[in-house]
Amino acid sequence: MLKILVLHGPNLNLLGLREPEIYGKTTLIDINKELMGFAKKEGFELTIKQSNFEGELIQIIQEAMENYDGIVFNPAAYTHTSIALRDAIAAVNIPVIEVHLSNIYKREEFRHHSYISEVAEGVVSGFGKESYFLGLRALINLLSKKAKK
Ligand code: DQA
Repeated sequence: MLKILVLHGPNLNLLGLREPEIYGKTTLIDINKELMGFAKKEGFELTIKQSNFEGELIQIIQEAMENYDGIVFNPAAYTHTSIALRDAIAAVNIPVIEVHLSNIYKREEFRHHSYISEVAEGVVSGFGKESYFLGLRALINLLSKKAKK
C-alpha cells in the first residue's frame, strides 16, 4: 500500500479563521478528515502533519524519505522565502507535489515566485481545499506509473 504524507506549513492551522475570503471557511481539521476519508476510499495510507516552524518542516521532509513514497506539501509563506526547504526537497529522492489553496499568481507579486516549484514534481494552485485532492491524485498516478516501470 502506498504511504503518503500531507504536510501543511505555517499558519495553515488557522484555516477557517484566517482570511476566509481567500482561504475559505473550512478548518484544517475538517480538511484533514476529508483527506483521511479520501485515503480510505482510494486505498492508500495517509499521514498528515502541520508545522509553523521552518526547521521542523525540514526535519519532517528529511525523515519522510525513510517512511513515505511521496509528499503533498503546502509550504504556505515559506514557498516564497525558503531556500532551506527547497534544498531539503532536492535532497530527498521521493516526489513532492506543491499545493496552494489560493492561486498565488493572482495575488501580490511577492507570492509569484516559489522556491519550491523548482524542485517539485508539479504544482496545484487556486482550487481551495480541492488543491490537496488534486495533488494527491497526481501523486498517486505518478507513483503507480513508477511502480510499473
Ligand atoms: C498559501 C499561499 C501562500 O502565499 C500563503 O503565504 C499561505 C497559503 C495557499 O495555500 O494559498 O500561507 O500557500
